Order: sequence, then structure tokens, then C-alpha cells
Amino acid sequence: MNQPTTKENADMSAQLDKAQKSIDRLFATRNDRWYPQCHIASKAGWINDPNGLSYYKGRYHAYFQLNPYGSEWGNMHWGHVSSADLVTWRREPLAMAPTLEVEKDGVFSGSAVVGDDGRLTIYYTGHRWRNGVDDDDGNLQEQCMAVSSDGIHFEKKGVVIPCPDDKILHFRDPKVWKMGGLWYMVFGVSTPAQRGEIWMYTSNDMEHWTFDRVIYRHPDPEVFMLECPDMFPLEDKWVICYSAMGLKPHGFEARNHNNAGYVIGSWQPGGDFHQETGFHLWDDGHNFYAPQTFQAPDGRRLVFGWMSPFTEPIPMQEDGWCGQFTVPREVTLAGDHLRCLPVREFSDLDQDRQDFGPIELEVNSSRDLVDDAQTADINMEIDLNKSQAERIGLEIHRTQSGDHTLVCYDDQLGRVVLDRHCNTYGDRGYRTAPVDKSSGKLKLRIIVDRGSVEVVVNDGLEIMSSYSFPAEGPRGIRLIAESGEGKALISSLSIAKLGTIWEEPDR
Ligand code: FRU
Repeated sequence: MNQPTTKENADMSAQLDKAQKSIDRLFATRNDRWYPQCHIASKAGWINDPNGLSYYKGRYHAYFQLNPYGSEWGNMHWGHVSSADLVTWRREPLAMAPTLEVEKDGVFSGSAVVGDDGRLTIYYTGHRWRNGVDDDDGNLQEQCMAVSSDGIHFEKKGVVIPCPDDKILHFRDPKVWKMGGLWYMVFGVSTPAQRGEIWMYTSNDMEHWTFDRVIYRHPDPEVFMLECPDMFPLEDKWVICYSAMGLKPHGFEARNHNNAGYVIGSWQPGGDFHQETGFHLWDDGHNFYAPQTFQAPDGRRLVFGWMSPFTEPIPMQEDGWCGQFTVPREVTLAGDHLRCLPVREFSDLDQDRQDFGPIELEVNSSRDLVDDAQTADINMEIDLNKSQAERIGLEIHRTQSGDHTLVCYDDQLGRVVLDRHCNTYGDRGYRTAPVDKSSGKLKLRIIVDRGSVEVVVNDGLEIMSSYSFPAEGPRGIRLIAESGEGKALISSLSIAKLGTIWEEPDR
């Protein structure tokens, strides 16, 4: 291993202790108005990408990029939560702080596997600013390794893949798996010509890695970096996914600051990847980035995304925390794209489901369904054949001020719309998702938390994740139908509250 750069600058347990004290200080004044009940978030501080998602010694482990010192990005550590059942989560001690010279400016994203020796092995990126202060001159990044016998305490092993060319400005986010006796690693690279690529390495022993090939190169020369790549099999196909920097918005697509998506194709070890589909976004909402997948012990492919608050204003930053994951989703193949459905375990959080039965609503009218919902899991089916209204949907987080986030079917667009146009807090704007109308029905499932909305369209054929920061007062849910000659026909509608995911609620 690369000795000079693995020089130790600080003692990990002292650094973790200091970081935990800072989290506790921020928590003491945390404002809970938008703090999630049923999504993973840090007790305080900033989080970004899910890292090291794994199942080890009877528990699911979710680590995450964490700034324990404030509610903005910086000082990257690894935070940690774990769960026995994917429903109830326990806060674990912080997992990693920057202590080596190579990670002086942050322990960046990475993944976890159960190693050949039975230890949980983490591959992550050691990060330094090239100019010692900020990203103006790019990064010095290397792939590092750490091991653990309990998933809680980690021993760092230093650099396993140094950056081979000092003209490379981004070189990070290793994702590792084993197949046919060989270990594979992919990570994102911005080449000296600033092209976004994914490189593949292989290893026999988990410590010595050999360059295999450039497994994917983004066709668009404006895409200069592919962050957090992932590569996994589904049925007889392989999926390559990445979070693209530099992709420009076009029509309804790629409207976020950076955008996460995938392509599907075929791959054999030792060969090239053959792409067979176009690029699809993972999620059509405002806030979804840097997802990571892993395999559950029963073989399901699961994914968590980071609900990325890229666009200012970001009002939760005033509250001592910032950032949450999506709910865990199961990923399956649906023709040329992926179906993403909240894991079935998530329904264990359901409480007091209320059935509103079939509803016929005149256009330009509304019906209040719930007076105050901090959380909700809504199931709704719209009969598209029998409805003439131009917009049919729900106002979520509706407060007395008139603030709300609208989730509706828009017949003019033929799409589902998630519109935050009426909100006092946070970025406004709308996003849309396409709808397959062939069945004449539209199924929507809407998961509402204190500061977010996730919309699952037609059993996960599309999905949208967005923050939604309600104004003061009770948060109602209102059914609306707008414009047209006739009615809206809702064939079924039910709403449950959701319990907390925390084994020990923070307060
Ligand atoms: C993606 C990302 C990764 C990096 C990490 C740093 O959001 O930029 O590429 O490893 O976050 O926090």
C-alpha cells in the first residue's frame, strides 16, 4: 500500500468523539418542524450520499456522508444507522472521521462488502483539495479501504488505488462486488479532457487492484464527471447507473442541478458493457441524487437515494440539520427501464388507515380529507376513462395560509405533476412524470413526511421525490378537481398515518 500518503494525522476515536459532541450540540437546538419521521436523516448536521449499504451480521447498515459540524456540506465523515428489518432504525456511533493525510479534507463516498475474511470491508475515497482550501483547482483523490468486525468500529487500511495521473481532477466513489471468484470495483473519473467516465478494476485479494477497462464513457462531452457509479445485475441484464455532472436540462428531463440515472445492457466479466437502452432518470422529482444499491439477503436489489437539496433556499439548514434519504426501494426490471417501489416492509409503519371509498368530484371543487397530517401514506386510483377534469389530485401540506404542494394528474400534459408553486419556504417549481394510460387507470401512492413528498406512479414505473416545507399550522390534505366539462372519478382512496422509523425517538 501507498505508505507516504497513508500517514496518520489524528486519532480516529478522538475525532469521532469530537464530531459526536458537535452533533449533540446542534441537536440541542434542532427545530423539528420539517425533520423526518419515516426517512433516514442524521440527528443533526448535514448529510448527503448513502454509503456502504450492506447486510452484515443480521442487520442492514446504512452509512452516509455527514458533516457533523454544521448544516451545510463540508468536513465529510461517515455517519451510521442500522436496522434488523428495514423498518426500524437505530442510530449507531459515527463510523469514520478523516484521520489520514490522504483524506485530510474528507472521507468521501464508497461502498461496503462482506470480505473473504468475513469482515465488513469498506472502499471509499480519501479526498484532499489540490490547493489545500477549496475545489477551484480540483481534487486529489484516491481509493481507500477500511475493515470492521462489527460494522461499527473501523480500522483503516489506507490507499488501495492511487490516482494514476495528476491531470485527473475527479477520481472517486468506489462500488465493489464479487463475481466468479474475482472482486470488481467501479468508480467515477473526470479525464484530463474533462470527460465523464466509469473505470473498472479487479482484484483477487481485495487489496491489490488492477485496471481492467473504461467500462462506460458518457457520450455527451459536456458531462464532465459521473459521481457515485453503480453496476449491478437484474435478471439477465446489467445496469450501469451514475450521477451526472454537466448534463443540461432538456424538456421535462434532467431539470435538477445534477441528475442521477441509468442505462441497461449486457456485460460479461472480462468484456465491455453493451448498452441496450437510452438513459433514464432514476426519479423525476426535484431532489434525488447519488443513489446506491445493494443486495438484501433474500436476493432483492434495494436502493436508497439522497434527497439532494441542490437549489437554494434550503430552509431546513436553519434548523440544525439538512438532508434525508428516500424510503428504501426495491428495484426490478420493467422492459427498457427500472421499476422502483418502496420496500414492502415500509407498510409496517401504516397506522389508522382511513378509507374514503370511491369519490365523484365536480370540476372546480375540492374536498378536505385530513385536517392535520404530519405523515401520510396515500393510495389513490383515478379512473382516467370516466374523468373529464383537466387536473385531478391532492394538495399536500395544505396550511391555512394557502401554502401546499400539488400532486395531480394533468390531462393536458398527460403526466403526473408535482408542483410547489404555492410554498412560502424553499425552492418552488414543478416536476412531471410520464404516465402509461393504456389501462385507463392511474395509480398513485404518495408518501408524505414532515418535509417531503414521494410520489409512486403506477406501481413504481415512475417515482418522484421532492422536499416540501409546509408553512405554520396544521397540514391538511385536500382533494381537488380543476377545469373541464364533467367530473373527476376517483375509484379508490385511502390514507394512513406513518409511525416513526426510530427505535428510540430523539425526544
Ligand atoms: C456526490 C458526492 C460524491 C462525493 C461525495 C462528497 O454527492 O459529490 O461524488 O464522494 O458527494 O461528499
